[in-house]
Amino acid sequence: MPIFIDSSDPKEIKELFSWGVLSGVTTNPLIIAKEAPDADLGERIREILKVSTGDVSVELTTETEKEMLEEAAGYHAWDPKRITIKVPMSEHGLKVVHQLTKKGVKTNVTCLMAMNQAYLAALAGATYVSIFSGRVRDMGYDVRPVISATRDVLEQEKLAAKIIVGSMRHMMDVNEALEAGCHIPTITPPILRKMVWNPRTEQTIEEFNSAWRNRAKK
Ligand code: E4P
Repeated sequence: MPIFIDSSDPKEIKELFSWGVLSGVTTNPLIIAKEAPDADLGERIREILKVSTGDVSVELTTETEKEMLEEAAGYHAWDPKRITIKVPMSEHGLKVVHQLTKKGVKTNVTCLMAMNQAYLAALAGATYVSIFSGRVRDMGYDVRPVISATRDVLEQEKLAAKIIVGSMRHMMDVNEALEAGCHIPTITPPILRKMVWNPRTEQTIEEFNSAWRNRAKK
C-alpha cells in the first residue's frame, strides 16, 4: 500500500523520502500559496522532482477546457513520466481528463466529496481519484462510506483508477481511510511524523537504554 506526501516543501520532502516509506507527492495551489507564495511554480516542482520518486501531482488553476489543456501541456513537459495532472472535478474537468487520457497523460481528479464524482472521474480515465476526508467531515458526513463505496464500484466495474484519500486532519483519518479501502493515503508531514511516535515506544526505548547505561559491570 503506497503512501504519498501532501506537501510542496522540497526540504521536507527530501527528508521524509529518506525514511523509505513514500512513493509519490501531491501538491495543490493552496499548499503552494501557503508554503511558498513567491515561488516560481516550475522551479519549485523541478526541485520536488529531484528529491522524490514516483508521481508528482500538480493542479490546474485555469477553468476553461482550452486553458486547462494548455496549462496541463506545460506541466507535463517538466517530466512526462512523473508529472500527474491534478484536475479539479467539473464538467470541463471531465473533458480534460478524457483528452489527457487519450494522450497517455496521467491524471488525478481532485476535490471529490462523493462516490458518484469518483465514479465519473474513473470512467473518464483518471489514473487517481482524490477523496477529501477532512472536507467531507467538515460538512458533517462520515467519509468512510464514501471511500468504501468508491472502492466497491471501481472493482465491480473493473476501472483502473486508484483511490487517493487526502485532506487528512488527524492520524486516525489515515487509519480509517486505509480500513475503508483507500489505495493511497496522501499525508501531511506533521501527520506522517505522528504516525512514527507512540509514548509507550518512547518509554520502552528509554527503559532499555537506561538499563544499558546503568548496567552493573563485573
Ligand atoms: C490532496 O490531494 C489535497 O492536496 C489535500 O489533501 C487537501 O487538503 P485540505 O482539505 O487540507 O486542503
